[in-house]
Amino acid sequence: MIPRLKPAIGARELAAAFHPPRRDDVERFERSFAELMGQKHALAFPYGRTGLMLLLEALGLDDKEIICPAYTCVVVPHAITYSGNKPVFIDCEVVGFNMDLNIAKQAISEKTGAIIATSLFGYPVNLDQLDEIRKRHPNVFIIQDCAHSFAAEWNGRPVQKEGIAALFGLNISKTLTSIFGGMITTDNEDVYHKLKTIRQQRLKKPGWGKGFRRLLYLLAVYPAFWEPVYGLINRLERLGLLNYFVKYYDDSKIDMPLDYLEGMCEVEARVGRVNIGRYETIIDKRRAAAQYYFKCLTDRPDFKMTPEVEGATYSHFVVRVDDRDEWLQRAIRKGIQLGWLIEYNIPEMEAYGGYPSKDFPVAGDYASRAINLPVWGGEFIAQKVVKLLKRYCI
Ligand SMILES: Cc1ncc(COP(=O)(O)O)c(C=O)c1O
Repeated sequence: MIPRLKPAIGARELAAAFHPPRRDDVERFERSFAELMGQKHALAFPYGRTGLMLLLEALGLDDKEIICPAYTCVVVPHAITYSGNKPVFIDCEVVGFNMDLNIAKQAISEKTGAIIATSLFGYPVNLDQLDEIRKRHPNVFIIQDCAHSFAAEWNGRPVQKEGIAALFGLNISKTLTSIFGGMITTDNEDVYHKLKTIRQQRLKKPGWGKGFRRLLYLLAVYPAFWEPVYGLINRLERLGLLNYFVKYYDDSKIDMPLDYLEGMCEVEARVGRVNIGRYETIIDKRRAAAQYYFKCLTDRPDFKMTPEVEGATYSHFVVRVDDRDEWLQRAIRKGIQLGWLIEYNIPEMEAYGGYPSKDFPVAGDYASRAINLPVWGGEFIAQKVVKLLKRYCI
C-alpha cells in the first residue's frame, strides 16, 4: 500500500530520540529552525495552534476580528477563539487554494486586528496583493501561516518573512516534523521578547510522562508507514479504530488538545533538529512529484487541477474530482491511499455557525471534491501512482 503521506524520519531521528537529553535541546532546535527560515528568532510550542494563540495575545489583540481562510485547518479558528478574538472567514480565490485577498480587503474594518495569510498546500500567498493591504492598513498585523508551506516563495520572496511573524506546524503529517510541536518565527525583537515572556508564564514545563509518550508515539509511527505494514494500518483507520490518533476535530466543538499548554519536550526538539537536515531533500522530492503529476495528469477532464506556481513547496498535491468517495475506494483497491485533506469548509461547521455552503462557494467546492496524491516519495512514487491510476482507475 502506498500511503498518502510518510514522515521523513529514519535512523538519525530515532538515534536523536534516544540521545541523553541536554538542557538546551529546545533552544538548539529553535536556533536551527530560525536559521533554516532565514529569520532572527524562532520559538517552539507544543502545537502550532498554541503558538498562534499566544502570538495573538503577545500582539495585544483581544476582542478583535481576525481574518482567516474558510478553507484551512480548523485548529486555526480554534486558536483565534481561544485567544479571545473572533475569526472572520474568507472564501478561496477562484484559481488557487488560498484565501481571496480581494474579499479579505473588503472585510477589513476598525475591529480587524490581524490577517492570517495561509499558503495552503505549499502554494505561496500572493505577496503583491498583501503588500497593498499592508500599505492601506498598517495597523492590521499580517501573520503568515506556513504550516503547509515552510519556505515557499512568491516571486523569489520567502513568504514566512512577510509579516509580523510566521506560524509552523510540526506534527508527523507536516513537511518537517518534531513528532508533535509548532514554531513561531519573527524578525521583530519586541514580538519575540513579549511572546517568550508569555510562553514562560502560560506554558508549564513538560513532565517526563509527556516525553515518554512522545517517544512511544515515534516508535509506533516509524514502522507504521512501511508499505507492507501500511495496508493493515489503513484497514484499521477505515474501520475507525485509529480515530483517537487521526481524528483531530469535532464539527460541533471549539477545543484544544488536553496538553496544549504543556511546552515542547526535549525529545521532540532533538528529533526536529535532526529532521531539519533533510529539508532540501524533502522539498526537492515534493517538487519532483508535483511536476510529474502536472506533466501526466494536466489534460485529464476528470482531474481539475490548480495551475503550477513557481516557488510552491507542495505539502500536498491536490486535484478536484467529481466523485471523491468512488476515487478513494478505487485507488485503495489498487494499493494507493489518496488523501482527502481538507474535507470541510469551516463556516459550514456547527461550531462556527453552520453557514450554507453557497456563502463560501469555492471553499465548499474544495471541501467536497479535493483529493491529494502522494508527494513524499518524489518522482519514483509519483510514477507508480500515475501508472496505477491510469491503468485501473481513469
Ligand atoms: C494550515 C494549518 N495551520 C496551522 C496548523 C496548526 O498546527 P498544529 O496542528 O501544530 O496546531 C495546521 C495543522 O495541521 C495547519 O494545517
